[in-house]
Amino acid sequence: MDSDSKIFVAGHNGLVGSAIVRNLEARGFTNILTVDRVKLDLTKLHDVQMFFMVEQPEYVFLAAAKVGGIGANDEYPADFIYENLMIQTNVISSAAKSGVKKLLFLGSSCIYPKFATQPITEDQLMSGHLEPSNSAYAVAKIAGINMCKAYRKQHGLNAISVMPTNLYGPNDNFDLDSSHVLPALMAKFHGSLEKSEHWVVKLWGDGSPKREFLHVDDLAEALYICMEKYDDEDIINIGTGEDVTIKELAETIIDVTGYKNYYEWDTSKPNGTPRKVLNVDKMKALGWEPKISLREGIESTYEWYKNSIGYEEPQLNPISKFMSWMDQ
Ligand SMILES: NC(=O)c1ccc[n+]([C@@H]2O[C@H](COP(=O)([O-])OP(=O)(O)OC[C@H]3O[C@@H](n4cnc5c(N)ncnc54)[C@H](OP(=O)(O)O)[C@@H]3O)[C@@H](O)[C@H]2O)c1
Repeated sequence: MDSDSKIFVAGHNGLVGSAIVRNLEARGFTNILTVDRVKLDLTKLHDVQMFFMVEQPEYVFLAAAKVGGIGANDEYPADFIYENLMIQTNVISSAAKSGVKKLLFLGSSCIYPKFATQPITEDQLMSGHLEPSNSAYAVAKIAGINMCKAYRKQHGLNAISVMPTNLYGPNDNFDLDSSHVLPALMAKFHGSLEKSEHWVVKLWGDGSPKREFLHVDDLAEALYICMEKYDDEDIINIGTGEDVTIKELAETIIDVTGYKNYYEWDTSKPNGTPRKVLNVDKMKALGWEPKISLREGIESTYEWYKNSIGYEEPQLNPISKFMSWMDQ
């Protein structure tokens, strides 16, 4: 990509899209194309075709999608499969028709079988049954991967597919009904900061499952490298290659938010897969390494979250200030 290449970032208001825009702007790219959903609904084929014909983007980051946590995926599977199939079908086919030089499609680690061998290598795609709770979303993503391959073969579109692990960072979704685990825990503990000392935060499962988390700015750097260096039709994983238990994650968030009351595990709720971590050898071979530790990422995301909701730190009276100083 040249600094004045026309680069369309689809989904620029979302967690991933906004990080891609930040990364490209910091690198000095001057011709970044974005469009709000109210102006262009990517599920509408005719509108998407017109947009590509008029705008003629050279590169496309396809980060627009319907995304959500386990609860939302389980409750609205039709929306997840329909909207994701429509968005990716319209964007990939229009990109091929209008002569886009390269397209990067964002998949997800949920495309892998529920009982994949850990750490998950790319060759385990389609080697077993999917996790049922988000299979509609996963099937749409697998269709997207195959669509990239098919358009590459039949129409010569340089389309690549990347599979990121669980992401977090600024512009994440903190809504408790539809968010992923990390922002949900942050919103829950933050929302309980000022509750009485008898308040107990309840968390799903028993805290034992192990998960991997990548800061979205590290992802954006990896996506840039893939756009510059990766031209293969095979998928490529993006993650840290390291995992933590949900209990460890919760305790880090408790520490960062300063929540002081109790929390307990609701073991009547499902744990999900015991462990999920990606093998990231392929991505590392391209010269990329994640730079933001989980602790640092949680701290900066928490600062962003507090600003985004206009939270003001409570003013301590002189006695509390003294007690808090004694505690340190
Ligand atoms: N979040 C994760 O942990 C994670 C992990 C692995 C992979 N991914 C992948 O990364 C990609 C981006 O995810 P994300 O977390 O950034 O999601 P997100 O924060 O929900 O952002 C999605 C973006 O897509 C836009 N969008 C959705 N439907 C649209 C439509 N019909 N027309 C136009 N725009 C539409 C949204 O627009 P509005 O702002 O108007 O709603 C939003 O800007 C997805 O493909 C996802 O599968 C995410």
